[in-house]
Amino acid sequence: MKVIRSIPSMQHIARALQCSGKRIGFVPTMGALHGGHLSLIRRAKRDNDIVVVSIFVNPTQFGPTEDFQKYPRPFMQDKKICTKEGVAYLFYPQVIQMYPQGFRTYTEVKGISDVYCGKLRPGHFRGVATVVMKLFHIVLPNRAYFGQKDAQQSIIIRRIVKDMNMQVEVVVIPTIRERDGLAMSSRNAYLSDRERGEALVLSQALVACRGMVRSGERRARRLIARVTAMVREHRCVKLEYCAVVDVSTMQPLQRLAGRVLILLAARVGNVRLIDNCIIPVSWL
Ligand code: PAF
Repeated sequence: MKVIRSIPSMQHIARALQCSGKRIGFVPTMGALHGGHLSLIRRAKRDNDIVVVSIFVNPTQFGPTEDFQKYPRPFMQDKKICTKEGVAYLFYPQVIQMYPQGFRTYTEVKGISDVYCGKLRPGHFRGVATVVMKLFHIVLPNRAYFGQKDAQQSIIIRRIVKDMNMQVEVVVIPTIRERDGLAMSSRNAYLSDRERGEALVLSQALVACRGMVRSGERRARRLIARVTAMVREHRCVKLEYCAVVDVSTMQPLQRLAGRVLILLAARVGNVRLIDNCIIPVSWL
């Protein structure tokens, strides 16, 4: 595996691969790779000729009071994982290259970037959208892989790709969970034992919602009330929001129909965690 640190080198390699007819599968990450990332890399490897992974802790998607400085950066461990998984190129640029002095161009998606996580983390999705567009222009992927855990992020990226006529297929892979149900996240490493135990309520609340829908419940407010009540029983967990929305438009639903996305975000101690599930209501 080659580690590529410069943007022109990565662009040169990507162009050469495209010219020789190789299909590039791309997994953008911020490092601290876990099982969720592995499932993206393995799927990219299965679907494409070449896999490129990027590791870049993107400053523009962190708010001023967020964890940019202390975000985990275990580069040597990540590099070992990528080598073992058969990644061909690890793109690892520095902040100054991605955002040189004078940088002024940002990508914004109206209406979906500023709700839910976007409302609570102003500017977050602008940062994500901008860096992902930059990475797409550098890596020139045929397919790019994202996790369902970041549901709003995936919906935004799909929207940009469609709106900007980009020739990238966005592939979204189901959330990978720990044995007990906790969605894998680089931020889980910050949880104390007690918080780790209490954080389970998030996935349990989603399971409870699924059960309610299976039993015939179609009122979104009933699901939200159940999630709120379950979370309230855990002292370390503060629900930021729970929303029941249409999976492609992110419009809130009152009655459940079609493919329904239940989103939640919570603070567990000082750690912000998100989780979600998709329920195809008409199939149940
Ligand atoms: O999901 C992530 O890890 C990041 O938001 C991404 C897509 C790599 C952009 O920085």
